[in-house]
Amino acid sequence: MAEAVTNAGALIGVAKLKDKDEGTFLHSLAVSALMIIFARSLGLKEESVRLFGSGGLIHDIGKITLPIEVLQKSGALTSEELTIMRMHPVQGYRMIASIPGIPKAILDICLHHHEKFDGTGYPHNLGGNDIPYVARIAAICDVYDALSTIRAYKRAWSQAEVIDAMLSSRGHFDPEPLKAFVSRMIIGDVIR
Ligand SMILES: [Fe+2]
Repeated sequence: MAEAVTNAGALIGVAKLKDKDEGTFLHSLAVSALMIIFARSLGLKEESVRLFGSGGLIHDIGKITLPIEVLQKSGALTSEELTIMRMHPVQGYRMIASIPGIPKAILDICLHHHEKFDGTGYPHNLGGNDIPYVARIAAICDVYDALSTIRAYKRAWSQAEVIDAMLSSRGHFDPEPLKAFVSRMIIGDVIR
């Protein structure tokens, strides 16, 4: 029952996100799919796989609260706009925290998917294992899809370019799951 309530609450939010910003909606679908495939490849139980998928779907839900001109700006963001943009994990967390029975894993993904392994991310500057494991996985899937996707300000990078950038982005990701992502999802040819 809790899961049904969670899914209903989350899906209403995701439908609203589609109306507000189709790009973020499509990105959320892609991250959800990557999370599911990656969680399965790690041998996690089906219940966890579902949580990873739901978390991916709603990780950017807080972007609903942001001004559309910031969300869809094609050029670089000013420092003021960047501050607004960086509010989306906390805003999203606030939106879903009141859903009865919402699993902690989903809250963690929503709040912490922009933390970095070296502690330089946001919103809480968590580092290493202080970042919930699900959020460390979400960070990998999130950035993989963002870099692979064409944007107003950049072309879509090839898979090799994306992996190169992620592997050389020292301090951003948990090295262990990143290694697993590359070997199982890329070398294992799961993603094309
Ligand atoms: Fe995000």
